[in-house]
This record gives sequence, C-alpha cells and structure tokens, in this order.
Amino acid sequence: MKLEPRKFINSKIKEIRKEAGNKGALVATSGGVDSMVCAVLAHKALGRKAVILFIDDGLMRISDEKRVRGELKPFGIKVNIVRVADDFFKALKGKVDPEEKRKAFRNLFYRTLGKAVRKSRVECLIQGTIAADIIETKGKIKTQHNILEQIGIDPKKHFGFTVVEPLREIFKYQVRKVAKELGFSPVVHQQMPFPGPGLATRVVGEVTPQKVKILRKAVEIVEEEMKRLKPFQAFAVLLNDKATGIRKGKRLFGNIIAIRSVESNDAMTASITKIPWPILEKIRERIIKEIPEVVKVVYDITPKPPSTIEYI
Ligand code: XMP
Repeated sequence: MKLEPRKFINSKIKEIRKEAGNKGALVATSGGVDSMVCAVLAHKALGRKAVILFIDDGLMRISDEKRVRGELKPFGIKVNIVRVADDFFKALKGKVDPEEKRKAFRNLFYRTLGKAVRKSRVECLIQGTIAADIIETKGKIKTQHNILEQIGIDPKKHFGFTVVEPLREIFKYQVRKVAKELGFSPVVHQQMPFPGPGLATRVVGEVTPQKVKILRKAVEIVEEEMKRLKPFQAFAVLLNDKATGIRKGKRLFGNIIAIRSVESNDAMTASITKIPWPILEKIRERIIKEIPEVVKVVYDITPKPPSTIEYI
C-alpha cells in the first residue's frame, strides 16, 4: 500500500468517528509507536470520548510509564494508569511454553481492557495492530498478543467490546511516517519496536517478578549503549539456562543474558547488527557490574529466519 501520511490520518479519523463515534473508545498504549499513534488518532477523532490507558502489567520497561505520560501531554491527552502487575504475574505463574505464555498474557490483557471498557462506559477498543502482526499470527509463527478477529476470536462475545485497528494495512516504517506527520518527536517515531507482552517475550521459561527485575535492568543497559547505532531493535533476553560463574571469589550458578540486535524494515525478516566490539564489551561490562545475578553474557548472531526477533 502506498502511503500518504496526511491523507491516511484524515481517513482514519473519519473511520474512527464512524466506528466508535457516539459511545467513545478506549486505547491502551504501551509507549510503542503503534499504540501512541492510535492514541493520538483516537483523541483527534473523538476528543474527550477517547479514553487513553497505560496498563502497568509489571512487564514494561523502567521508564515507559513516565515516557507515555510525557509524550502524550503536548497533544492534550491525559493517561489513566491501571495497576495490575500482580494479576499478570499470577496468570503467568508456572507457564513455560511460549504459546501458553502468550495466550495467558493475551487473555488477561483483554479481560483487563474489558473491565476498563465497562468502567469508562465505552464499547470500542482502538488498537495498534499492524500488518506484520496479522501475517505472522495467521501464518502460525506466533500468537501476537493483539490479534483476535483474524483468528476467529470475537472480541464482543469474549471480552465485551468491538475492535478498530486503524493501522492494520501498514508496516512499521509506514507507522513511523504517520507518527512524524502527527507531530511526535523522533524519540517516539524513531523508537525501537517493543512488543505488547513486554518483557514476558524476553524471559525464556517461567516469568517471575525476580526474573523481570534482572531483565529490566539488562534491557535498559542494552538500549542505552546501543542508542547511537540506531538499530531496528536491540534488547536483552534472560535465558532459562544457568551457568557456573564466580562472584566475590565464590562459585555462583548464575543467570545468562543474551544480547539481541537486528536490522529490518518490516520485522518480517531481519539481519543482525554488526555491533562494534567496544560497544559489545561495554554492554557486557555494565551488565556484569550492575546486575550481580548474571554471570554470563552472550551475543546472538542469528538472522530472522530461522530465528524470530523475540525469544518466545
Ligand atoms: P518476532 O519475534 O515475531 O517479532 O520476529 C516481530 C516484531 O513484532 C514484535 N512482537 C510483538 N509485538 N505483540 C506486539 O505488539 C506481540 O505479541 C509481539 N511479538 C513480537 C517484535 O518485538 C518484533 O518487532
């Protein structure tokens, strides 16, 4: 699809008014470019009838909540915070299979939104599903958290709301153009993708608050040190295996962090970033120094395919 950002924005504002007009709509934004664009489109289309949420599910990055509030403020958007981290850790407890984890996340995510929809007295959810999410879920590669109708789940019947997906026909690089046209800063329109299920996609095996705490710090370090290389996506992953290491002169069977950085346009295929050695070493040095539970750092050099970008 050839994209003209201004025309696209105007047509989507009309579409949102038509679909959600009278009753208003809810948008949950994680801070990623897709959901941030949806929040502003909804706000432009519906004004105060657009309710914008940030779901604190315990799986977001350190600064996401603050960043979402700050980036949406200039648009006149107030963000409501929903604190449900305990519920998400409970839903993920004991789950190690990646698809089981994804489905547990998805079901609680939409149940949480169902409650918010009822509380806000709206009937519609606007979400930032993009073309790649639909293609990969329908292709049975993985269950992206935000795909429902396309795989036969009726959101009205299961969760009590209808869904509008203004970005369903476009890819990430096109969403960035729309975000720029809407007036977002490069911090938003050039930011790396961050998956809806958040850090749950980067903990291999069971997701626990303790593991997320370790990973969150590692992700922050990788993002900070990789910023100047501007990769498509760079992050840390907490592996399920452990390795013997030495900490304070004593044996420690500790955690392993994998660093992943890829280049891509549409996230459908990806090559690896050839990270200069000094940057890799700096990342390793910081992870080892700042996260005592970690004894090994590895760099993943696998393109997509055969790997996917995230680990689950
Ligand atoms: P994969 O891991 O499938 O990821 O190669 C492709 C792109 O999609 C992101 N991703 C997700 N985004 N919900 C999302 O909103 C999800 O469930 C999800 N899973 C993966 C991933 O970060 C990459 O940019």
